[in-house]
Amino acid sequence: MPRHFLSVTDFSPAQVRDCLLLANDIKLHPENYRQTLAGQTLAMIFQKKSTRTRVSFEVGMYQLGGHALFLSSADIQIGRGETIADTAQVISRYCNGIMARVYGHEIVEELAKFATVPIINGLSDLEHPCQTMCDAQTLIEHWSPKGTYDPSVLRGKTLCYVGDGNNMAHSLLDVGAATGMNVTIVAPKGYWPDPKIVARCEELGRETGSKIVITDDVINGVRGADCIYTDVWASMGQEEEHDKRVRDFDGFIVDESMMQRADNGRTGPGCLFMHCLPAHRGEEVSAEVCDGPRSIIFDEAENRLHIQKAILVTLMAKR
Ligand code: CP
Ligand code: NVA
Repeated sequence: MPRHFLSVTDFSPAQVRDCLLLANDIKLHPENYRQTLAGQTLAMIFQKKSTRTRVSFEVGMYQLGGHALFLSSADIQIGRGETIADTAQVISRYCNGIMARVYGHEIVEELAKFATVPIINGLSDLEHPCQTMCDAQTLIEHWSPKGTYDPSVLRGKTLCYVGDGNNMAHSLLDVGAATGMNVTIVAPKGYWPDPKIVARCEELGRETGSKIVITDDVINGVRGADCIYTDVWASMGQEEEHDKRVRDFDGFIVDESMMQRADNGRTGPGCLFMHCLPAHRGEEVSAEVCDGPRSIIFDEAENRLHIQKAILVTLMAKR
Protein backbone atom coordinates (compact mmCIF):
# COMPACT_ATOMS: atom_id res chain seq x y z
CA MET A 1 0.00 0.00 0.00
CA PRO A 2 1.26 3.53 -0.72
CA ARG A 3 2.36 5.52 2.36
CA HIS A 4 1.40 8.96 1.07
CA PHE A 5 -0.84 10.65 -1.50
CA LEU A 6 1.10 13.63 -2.82
CA SER A 7 0.25 12.86 -6.40
CA VAL A 8 -2.10 10.57 -8.33
CA THR A 9 1.11 8.75 -9.34
CA ASP A 10 1.59 7.59 -5.73
CA PHE A 11 -1.14 5.05 -6.59
CA SER A 12 -0.62 2.49 -9.33
CA PRO A 13 -3.41 2.32 -11.97
CA ALA A 14 -4.81 -0.71 -10.07
CA GLN A 15 -4.77 1.24 -6.79
CA VAL A 16 -6.47 4.22 -8.47
CA ARG A 17 -9.19 1.86 -9.68
CA ASP A 18 -9.54 0.29 -6.21
CA CYS A 19 -9.81 3.73 -4.63
CA LEU A 20 -12.49 4.80 -7.15
CA LEU A 21 -14.46 1.62 -6.39
CA LEU A 22 -14.07 2.14 -2.63
CA ALA A 23 -15.28 5.75 -2.96
CA ASN A 24 -18.45 4.53 -4.64
CA ASP A 25 -19.02 1.88 -1.95
CA ILE A 26 -18.50 4.49 0.79
CA LYS A 27 -20.92 6.82 -0.99
CA LEU A 28 -23.59 4.11 -1.29
CA HIS A 29 -23.05 2.55 2.17
CA PRO A 30 -21.60 5.19 4.53
CA GLU A 31 -23.00 3.27 7.52
CA ASN A 32 -20.46 0.49 6.92
CA TYR A 33 -17.55 2.89 7.50
CA ARG A 34 -18.68 4.77 10.64
CA GLN A 35 -15.94 3.26 12.82
CA THR A 36 -13.21 2.69 10.21
CA LEU A 37 -10.99 5.47 11.57
CA ALA A 38 -12.34 5.49 15.14
CA GLY A 39 -10.03 7.33 17.51
CA GLN A 40 -7.83 8.70 14.72
CA THR A 41 -6.99 12.36 14.15
CA LEU A 42 -6.09 14.09 10.87
CA ALA A 43 -4.10 17.34 11.11
CA MET A 44 -5.02 19.74 8.29
CA ILE A 45 -2.39 22.39 7.54
CA PHE A 46 -3.52 25.25 5.29
CA GLN A 47 -1.17 27.82 3.76
CA LYS A 48 -3.97 28.85 1.37
CA LYS A 49 -7.70 29.41 1.58
CA SER A 50 -10.24 26.62 1.02
CA THR A 51 -13.94 25.84 1.18
CA ARG A 52 -14.34 22.36 -0.34
CA THR A 53 -11.09 20.78 0.83
CA ARG A 54 -11.38 21.99 4.40
CA VAL A 55 -15.05 21.11 4.86
CA SER A 56 -14.99 17.76 3.04
CA PHE A 57 -11.90 16.46 4.89
CA GLU A 58 -13.26 17.56 8.26
CA VAL A 59 -16.70 16.05 7.62
CA GLY A 60 -15.12 12.93 6.10
CA MET A 61 -12.98 12.26 9.18
CA TYR A 62 -16.02 12.73 11.42
CA GLN A 63 -18.10 10.32 9.32
CA LEU A 64 -15.32 7.71 9.54
CA GLY A 65 -15.35 7.88 13.34
CA GLY A 66 -12.30 10.13 13.62
CA HIS A 67 -11.54 13.78 14.10
CA ALA A 68 -9.81 16.57 12.15
CA LEU A 69 -7.80 19.60 13.34
CA PHE A 70 -7.79 22.78 11.26
CA LEU A 71 -4.33 24.37 11.45
CA SER A 72 -3.89 27.60 9.53
CA SER A 73 -0.15 27.85 8.82
CA ALA A 74 -0.29 31.48 10.00
CA ASP A 75 -1.44 30.31 13.43
CA ILE A 76 0.99 27.45 14.05
CA GLN A 77 4.74 27.89 14.52
CA ILE A 78 5.47 27.25 10.79
CA GLY A 79 4.26 30.84 10.41
CA ARG A 80 7.13 31.94 12.70
CA GLY A 81 9.78 29.89 10.96
CA GLU A 82 9.62 26.45 12.65
CA THR A 83 10.91 24.00 10.08
CA ILE A 84 8.68 21.69 8.05
CA ALA A 85 10.86 18.78 9.23
CA ASP A 86 10.27 19.52 12.94
CA THR A 87 6.58 20.21 12.36
CA ALA A 88 6.15 16.88 10.55
CA GLN A 89 7.87 14.94 13.34
CA VAL A 90 5.96 16.67 16.15
CA ILE A 91 2.52 16.31 14.54
CA SER A 92 3.30 12.64 13.82
CA ARG A 93 3.54 12.10 17.61
CA TYR A 94 -0.06 13.30 18.11
CA CYS A 95 -1.97 12.60 14.91
CA ASN A 96 -2.49 9.66 12.55
CA GLY A 97 -2.27 11.59 9.28
CA ILE A 98 -1.58 15.04 7.84
CA MET A 99 -3.39 16.75 4.99
CA ALA A 100 -1.64 19.89 3.75
CA ARG A 101 -2.54 22.65 1.30
CA VAL A 102 0.65 24.47 0.38
CA TYR A 103 2.40 26.75 -2.11
CA GLY A 104 5.54 24.87 -3.21
CA HIS A 105 5.13 21.14 -3.88
CA GLU A 106 8.47 20.60 -2.09
CA ILE A 107 6.65 21.39 1.18
CA VAL A 108 4.42 18.29 0.94
CA GLU A 109 7.50 16.30 -0.14
CA GLU A 110 9.38 17.55 2.93
CA LEU A 111 6.43 16.66 5.18
CA ALA A 112 6.40 13.16 3.66
CA LYS A 113 10.16 12.80 4.16
CA PHE A 114 10.01 13.52 7.91
CA ALA A 115 6.52 12.43 9.02
CA THR A 116 5.92 8.93 10.33
CA VAL A 117 2.22 9.16 9.36
CA PRO A 118 0.61 9.46 5.87
CA ILE A 119 0.70 12.83 4.12
CA ILE A 120 -2.12 13.85 1.75
CA ASN A 121 -1.66 16.71 -0.73
CA GLY A 122 -4.73 18.95 -0.42
CA LEU A 123 -3.36 21.13 -3.29
CA SER A 124 0.10 22.43 -4.07
CA ASP A 125 1.15 24.84 -6.81
CA LEU A 126 2.06 21.74 -8.86
CA GLU A 127 -0.75 19.24 -8.24
CA HIS A 128 -4.27 18.79 -6.87
CA PRO A 129 -4.71 15.00 -6.83
CA CYS A 130 -7.74 14.74 -4.47
CA GLN A 131 -9.69 16.96 -6.86
CA THR A 132 -8.99 14.92 -9.98
CA MET A 133 -9.68 11.58 -8.27
CA CYS A 134 -13.13 13.01 -7.43
CA ASP A 135 -13.45 14.20 -11.03
CA ALA A 136 -12.82 10.64 -12.25
CA GLN A 137 -15.43 9.31 -9.81
CA THR A 138 -17.94 11.88 -11.09
CA LEU A 139 -17.33 11.06 -14.76
CA ILE A 140 -17.65 7.33 -14.06
CA GLU A 141 -21.05 8.01 -12.47
CA HIS A 142 -22.22 10.04 -15.47
CA TRP A 143 -20.84 7.77 -18.18
CA SER A 144 -21.67 4.33 -16.72
CA PRO A 145 -24.93 2.71 -17.84
CA LYS A 146 -27.78 3.68 -15.50
CA GLY A 147 -27.58 1.97 -12.11
CA THR A 148 -23.96 0.87 -12.61
CA TYR A 149 -20.51 2.25 -11.78
CA ASP A 150 -17.70 0.98 -13.97
CA PRO A 151 -14.28 2.74 -13.94
CA SER A 152 -13.45 1.23 -17.35
CA VAL A 153 -15.96 3.65 -18.99
CA LEU A 154 -13.22 6.29 -18.82
CA ARG A 155 -11.11 4.39 -21.36
CA GLY A 156 -11.30 5.99 -24.76
CA LYS A 157 -13.30 9.03 -23.60
CA THR A 158 -11.70 12.47 -23.98
CA LEU A 159 -11.56 15.12 -21.30
CA CYS A 160 -10.53 18.49 -22.73
CA TYR A 161 -9.10 20.96 -20.23
CA VAL A 162 -9.25 24.56 -21.47
CA GLY A 163 -7.17 26.99 -19.45
CA ASP A 164 -3.96 27.41 -17.51
CA GLY A 165 -1.53 24.45 -17.53
CA ASN A 166 -1.52 24.54 -13.71
CA ASN A 167 -1.96 22.13 -10.80
CA MET A 168 -5.39 21.09 -12.14
CA ALA A 169 -4.05 20.39 -15.63
CA HIS A 170 -1.20 18.30 -14.17
CA SER A 171 -3.42 16.16 -11.96
CA LEU A 172 -6.00 15.69 -14.73
CA LEU A 173 -3.20 14.42 -16.99
CA ASP A 174 -2.14 12.04 -14.20
CA VAL A 175 -5.64 10.70 -13.59
CA GLY A 176 -6.18 10.29 -17.34
CA ALA A 177 -2.94 8.33 -17.66
CA ALA A 178 -3.90 6.11 -14.70
CA THR A 179 -7.39 5.32 -15.98
CA GLY A 180 -6.93 5.23 -19.76
CA MET A 181 -8.89 8.44 -20.38
CA ASN A 182 -7.56 10.73 -23.11
CA VAL A 183 -6.67 14.27 -22.01
CA THR A 184 -6.41 17.29 -24.32
CA ILE A 185 -5.01 20.53 -22.92
CA VAL A 186 -6.03 23.70 -24.78
CA ALA A 187 -4.00 26.66 -23.51
CA PRO A 188 -2.22 29.68 -24.96
CA LYS A 189 1.48 29.07 -25.61
CA GLY A 190 3.38 30.04 -22.46
CA TYR A 191 0.70 28.43 -20.26
CA TRP A 192 1.28 24.80 -21.22
CA PRO A 193 1.72 22.13 -18.53
CA ASP A 194 5.08 21.05 -17.13
CA PRO A 195 6.83 18.92 -19.79
CA LYS A 196 8.10 16.49 -17.13
CA ILE A 197 4.53 15.72 -16.06
CA VAL A 198 3.41 15.41 -19.69
CA ALA A 199 6.29 12.97 -20.33
CA ARG A 200 5.45 10.77 -17.33
CA CYS A 201 1.79 10.67 -18.42
CA GLU A 202 2.73 9.79 -21.99
CA GLU A 203 4.81 6.92 -20.67
CA LEU A 204 2.04 5.55 -18.41
CA GLY A 205 -0.51 6.23 -21.15
CA ARG A 206 1.31 3.77 -23.42
CA GLU A 207 0.31 1.07 -20.88
CA THR A 208 -3.22 2.26 -20.15
CA GLY A 209 -4.23 3.62 -23.59
CA SER A 210 -4.55 7.29 -22.53
CA LYS A 211 -3.59 9.73 -25.30
CA ILE A 212 -2.46 13.30 -24.66
CA VAL A 213 -2.79 16.34 -26.94
CA ILE A 214 -1.45 19.79 -26.02
CA THR A 215 -2.53 22.64 -28.29
CA ASP A 216 -3.29 26.35 -28.41
CA ASP A 217 -5.96 25.76 -31.09
CA VAL A 218 -9.06 26.77 -29.18
CA ILE A 219 -11.30 26.24 -32.22
CA ASN A 220 -10.37 22.70 -33.20
CA GLY A 221 -8.77 21.45 -29.97
CA VAL A 222 -12.14 20.95 -28.26
CA ARG A 223 -13.88 19.13 -31.14
CA GLY A 224 -15.23 15.73 -30.14
CA ALA A 225 -14.48 16.15 -26.41
CA ASP A 226 -16.75 14.22 -24.05
CA CYS A 227 -16.14 16.68 -21.24
CA ILE A 228 -14.77 20.22 -21.09
CA TYR A 229 -13.04 21.20 -17.88
CA THR A 230 -11.73 24.58 -16.83
CA ASP A 231 -10.20 26.36 -13.84
CA VAL A 232 -9.41 29.95 -12.88
CA TRP A 233 -6.83 31.76 -15.01
CA ALA A 234 -5.01 33.12 -11.95
CA SER A 235 -4.54 30.55 -9.18
CA MET A 236 -4.00 31.24 -5.49
CA GLY A 237 -0.68 33.08 -5.20
CA GLN A 238 -0.97 34.55 -8.73
CA GLU A 239 -3.41 37.34 -7.86
CA GLU A 240 -1.02 40.04 -9.09
CA GLU A 241 -0.87 38.44 -12.55
CA HIS A 242 -4.66 38.46 -12.86
CA ASP A 243 -5.04 41.33 -15.36
CA LYS A 244 -2.21 40.09 -17.63
CA ARG A 245 -3.68 36.59 -17.58
CA VAL A 246 -7.15 37.87 -18.51
CA ARG A 247 -5.54 39.46 -21.59
CA ASP A 248 -3.46 36.38 -22.42
CA PHE A 249 -6.48 34.04 -22.14
CA ASP A 250 -8.69 36.19 -24.37
CA GLY A 251 -10.81 33.79 -26.49
CA PHE A 252 -10.40 30.83 -24.09
CA ILE A 253 -13.68 31.31 -22.18
CA VAL A 254 -15.81 28.14 -22.09
CA ASP A 255 -19.14 29.29 -23.50
CA GLU A 256 -22.06 27.67 -25.30
CA SER A 257 -20.43 28.02 -28.73
CA MET A 258 -17.37 26.13 -27.44
CA MET A 259 -19.62 23.40 -25.99
CA GLN A 260 -21.32 23.06 -29.38
CA ARG A 261 -17.94 22.80 -31.12
CA ALA A 262 -17.12 20.01 -28.66
CA ASP A 263 -20.37 18.22 -29.57
CA ASN A 264 -19.26 18.50 -33.20
CA GLY A 265 -22.69 17.53 -34.50
CA ARG A 266 -22.90 14.34 -32.42
CA THR A 267 -26.31 13.19 -31.38
CA GLY A 268 -26.94 11.64 -27.96
CA PRO A 269 -25.66 12.96 -24.64
CA GLY A 270 -23.63 16.10 -25.19
CA CYS A 271 -20.30 17.17 -23.84
CA LEU A 272 -20.32 17.66 -20.03
CA PHE A 273 -18.89 20.69 -18.23
CA MET A 274 -16.68 20.48 -15.13
CA HIS A 275 -14.86 22.98 -12.92
CA CYS A 276 -12.97 22.32 -9.66
CA LEU A 277 -14.41 25.57 -8.23
CA PRO A 278 -14.32 28.33 -7.15
CA ALA A 279 -15.43 29.65 -10.58
CA HIS A 280 -15.31 33.15 -12.02
CA ARG A 281 -18.42 33.34 -14.19
CA GLY A 282 -17.84 35.61 -17.17
CA GLU A 283 -14.08 35.00 -17.05
CA GLU A 284 -12.99 31.37 -17.68
CA VAL A 285 -16.61 30.14 -18.09
CA SER A 286 -19.90 31.78 -19.03
CA ALA A 287 -22.68 31.70 -16.44
CA GLU A 288 -24.85 30.00 -19.07
CA VAL A 289 -22.54 26.97 -19.24
CA CYS A 290 -21.51 26.93 -15.57
CA ASP A 291 -25.13 26.90 -14.40
CA GLY A 292 -26.58 25.11 -17.43
CA PRO A 293 -27.79 21.55 -18.01
CA ARG A 294 -24.39 20.15 -19.06
CA SER A 295 -22.72 21.33 -15.87
CA ILE A 296 -21.92 18.69 -13.22
CA ILE A 297 -19.96 21.01 -10.92
CA PHE A 298 -21.93 20.24 -7.76
CA ASP A 299 -21.80 16.45 -8.27
CA GLU A 300 -18.05 16.99 -8.53
CA ALA A 301 -17.91 19.07 -5.36
CA GLU A 302 -19.95 16.46 -3.46
CA ASN A 303 -17.62 13.66 -4.52
CA ARG A 304 -14.66 15.36 -2.83
CA LEU A 305 -16.19 13.98 0.37
CA HIS A 306 -16.54 10.39 -0.84
CA ILE A 307 -13.22 10.06 -2.65
CA GLN A 308 -11.29 11.62 0.22
CA LYS A 309 -12.91 9.21 2.66
CA ALA A 310 -11.65 6.44 0.36
CA ILE A 311 -8.14 7.97 0.31
CA LEU A 312 -8.15 8.31 4.12
CA VAL A 313 -9.29 4.69 4.53
CA THR A 314 -6.68 3.48 2.02
CA LEU A 315 -3.84 5.23 3.86
CA MET A 316 -4.95 5.19 7.49
CA ALA A 317 -7.22 2.21 8.23
CA LYS A 318 -5.56 -0.35 10.49
CA ARG A 319 -5.17 -3.65 8.75
N1 CP B 1 -11.66 22.72 -5.51
C1 CP B 1 -11.12 23.02 -4.32
O1 CP B 1 -10.08 22.51 -3.92
O2 CP B 1 -11.81 23.95 -3.61
P1 CP B 1 -11.31 24.71 -2.32
O3 CP B 1 -10.20 25.64 -2.74
O4 CP B 1 -12.52 25.46 -1.83
O5 CP B 1 -10.82 23.73 -1.31
N1 NVA C 1 -5.72 26.27 -9.72
C1 NVA C 1 -6.51 26.67 -8.58
C2 NVA C 1 -7.29 25.53 -8.06
C3 NVA C 1 -8.20 25.86 -6.90
C4 NVA C 1 -8.95 24.66 -6.38
C5 NVA C 1 -5.57 27.24 -7.52
O1 NVA C 1 -4.49 26.65 -7.31
O2 NVA C 1 -5.90 28.26 -6.93
